[in-house]
Amino acid sequence: MRSVGIIGTGAYLPERRLTNSDLEKMVDTSDEWITSRTGIKERRIAAEDEASSDLAVKAAKQAMENAGITADQVDLIIVATVTPDMSFPATACLVQEQIGAPKAATFDLSAACTGFIYGISTAAQFIATGTYQHALVIGVECLSRIVDWTDRNTCVLFGDGAGAAVLGPVKEGYGFQSFELGGDGSGKDLLKVAAGGSRLPASENTVANSLHTLYMNGREVFKFAVRVMTSASDVALEKANLSFEDIDLFVPHQANLRIIDAAMKRYGLPDEKVVVNLDRYGNMSSASIPVALHEAIEEGRVSDGDTLVLCGFGGGLTWGATVLNWGGAIK
Ligand code: ACO
Repeated sequence: MRSVGIIGTGAYLPERRLTNSDLEKMVDTSDEWITSRTGIKERRIAAEDEASSDLAVKAAKQAMENAGITADQVDLIIVATVTPDMSFPATACLVQEQIGAPKAATFDLSAACTGFIYGISTAAQFIATGTYQHALVIGVECLSRIVDWTDRNTCVLFGDGAGAAVLGPVKEGYGFQSFELGGDGSGKDLLKVAAGGSRLPASENTVANSLHTLYMNGREVFKFAVRVMTSASDVALEKANLSFEDIDLFVPHQANLRIIDAAMKRYGLPDEKVVVNLDRYGNMSSASIPVALHEAIEEGRVSDGDTLVLCGFGGGLTWGATVLNWGGAIK
């Protein structure tokens, strides 16, 4: 098995900012409530003519440039999203056409906020075995399209964006050291868009009952999130024969600052070892982790040989964590 790592990252955030004070004019909420309960100050909203594939393509091009590869070197494109352009074809196919990657295999992956972790763990297997050389994994969401803008319980939380990573073989000792993935379908009703699939196809009735927008039992998801953030990371660290003391940078899913704070306290991690961007972008589901990772790299917070832990959780329920030894790209 070859060692596999991330050799380039990219991100794209739509231009339009929606602040907490904008939301105060839309629903019965306040900047004080949103900031103190979640840590979010503003989020980005895709333009009317932008769909997930448009955001994904921009992040993907930047990731390929940073990895030093061209589109014809991409063997596999995985797009993790719960907001594809349409039910089918896969958004990955639309991205493939736009970036011009003729030999790439393409599929979408649905694991909600854990989608990027599921995506990189899947792509890594193909590269480790030598089946593929380079994979593009993109986490992208246009959650603004499935949020009920009259529901203050959810509309203040989410944002749009895309993050991408190119995976390739790396020098021995570098790259992914472990993956831990999990799911619990008994939590399927805690976080969902009920209609639009084969169980409840779109109808006048589903539209009238707002069944095409995101529903979340926030309190239950919160408890689950606090629990799995560290339990999944613990297992990933154990599989890599490391402990939380070895973490140089923790890149958690960006849902709520209180969830991240709980993990930081449990591990005793100082601010400089944790990436937080939810104040600027809110919860971008599968895009949160790759955007946070990309920004940390751009800000010079990641050095060769650093031990990174990436950890996500979300609808499904799903969760996942990986330990990544940064660097080692083969030039
Ligand atoms: N403004 C003002 N008041 C509000 C708002 C708002 N935007 N939203 C809810 N409230 C009210 C509620 O109605 C409730 O009022 P009540 O007590 O009169 O009923 C009160 O505030 C408290 O509500 P709680 O739900 O207890 O608030 P809590 O402190 O739990 O915070 C939150 C809610 C932010 C949603 C939190 O539970 C949370 O972050 N949950 C986790 C979400 C998450 O991690 N999602 C990740 C997965 S997303 C994915 O997979 C796509």
